[in-house]
Amino acid sequence: MLAVYADSFSFDDPLAGLVVGERPDPEVPDGWTTVTVKAASLNHHDLWSLRGVGLRQEALPMILGCDAAGLDEDGNEVLVHAVVSDPGWTGDETLDPRRSLLSERYQGTFADKVVVPRGNVIPKPASLSFEEAACLPTAWLTAYRMLFVQGGMRPGQTVLVQGAGGGVATALIALARAAGLRVFATSRDEAKRQRALELGAHEVFESGARLPIRVDAVMETVGKATWSHSVKALGPGGTIVTSGTTSGPDLDNAELTRIFFLQLRVIGSTMGTRHELASLVTMLDATGVRPVIDRVLPMSQAHDGFAAMAGGEQFGKIVFTR
Ligand SMILES: NC(=O)c1ccc[n+]([C@@H]2O[C@H](COP(=O)([O-])OP(=O)(O)OC[C@H]3O[C@@H](n4cnc5c(N)ncnc54)[C@H](OP(=O)(O)O)[C@@H]3O)[C@@H](O)[C@H]2O)c1
Repeated sequence: MLAVYADSFSFDDPLAGLVVGERPDPEVPDGWTTVTVKAASLNHHDLWSLRGVGLRQEALPMILGCDAAGLDEDGNEVLVHAVVSDPGWTGDETLDPRRSLLSERYQGTFADKVVVPRGNVIPKPASLSFEEAACLPTAWLTAYRMLFVQGGMRPGQTVLVQGAGGGVATALIALARAAGLRVFATSRDEAKRQRALELGAHEVFESGARLPIRVDAVMETVGKATWSHSVKALGPGGTIVTSGTTSGPDLDNAELTRIFFLQLRVIGSTMGTRHELASLVTMLDATGVRPVIDRVLPMSQAHDGFAAMAGGEQFGKIVFTR
């Protein structure tokens, strides 16, 4: 089958190890099932994999991709939960120390077919296209958990989203607005700041700019480049929810003094549960909120999508179709 896979790692030139070519059809273990992929979306995770972050050399070649929407073995329209937990694990899948994401231990979704545990398949409502549904399992689920589970945000609170153009960030803006929050967003790019306003941000700012008021919470996926600003943006007792370090994890200043003096909370967040993914799907079905899709490309042109993400060009999600 056609697949987009990592053949080697390069931290500085991640696209060097990216191959679009033939891979064997997947074997189906007991309790697992095959989904025929109609659409799959690109995540920064796929670039990290090509850089050798989170993926082991012995696992190569590895088909990339965490997210997919497609058809199950009976022809039903479905989407795939990307978190694969140990078969013996019960409870919150994201807390299973043996969990992995598709494309880390098990082959990913950028292919004609993906094989997943039966429990990882959830129904796709007809109101969502395959392209839209393919945006949900990683970026949008991560945003949902950051805001409503780990962040515990309530209507009427104010949230700052750093780095507005990203897949997770656009999801954060749209979901926060739909849930009745006041939404501030930053971006390095003027055009992306305008797009963030159109998407639902109440006010937008250049990265690092002083805000008119202190916020209740900051949603952080950028890391080193925005961390200090994130801490300074919070009012007393405020919360940073962090799920990523796109610009790097090594902070120039962790702002510890401010964190303890203002009694701030720093909370990690990773992906979400199958139950939370189902709730996210219901939320989109009920509200009409839809993922922002930057571009749709055939899987055979995956290189172009990866290059756009590596260059930080996109606003929203990059989707591959079969
Ligand atoms: N923990 C989890 O479960 C989880 C799940 C999903 C994603 N993540 C992580 O979250 C991060 C975002 O993922 P994504 O898929 O949304 O990536 P993405 O679509 O590539 O977005 C990255 C965004 O970060 C901002 N950015 C990058 N470098 C920056 C810099 N130097 N200064 C300011 N802003 C910068 C950019 O915003 P502007 O261009 O608008 O400034 C860009 O749009 C990644 O690191 C990813 O690994 C983690």
